[in-house]
Amino acid sequence: MNERITLLVDGRRVEAEAGRPLGAVLHGEGNPIIRHTARRHEPRGLFCGMGVCFDCLVTIDGRPGVRACVTPVSDGMRVETGRS
Ligand code: FES
Repeated sequence: MNERITLLVDGRRVEAEAGRPLGAVLHGEGNPIIRHTARRHEPRGLFCGMGVCFDCLVTIDGRPGVRACVTPVSDGMRVETGRS
């Protein structure tokens, strides 16, 4: 069994398996929406799941525009989604 880590998602503590893709962790919370588009406020979530479509962009540790589907989670990571 892999190590369990804790990250913060929109200020909430979330436990996950170390190294698991962030997109999978977010999807596993039961909410498929990761962000809303800026202009039309349309929901976006995992679409391609392999770093191509950019639908899963989040902010990690203050760095915006990170693709959740290809980013492994790590302990203490601070994630801001565009969920609203
Ligand atoms: S789901 Fe397509 S880039 Fe992440």
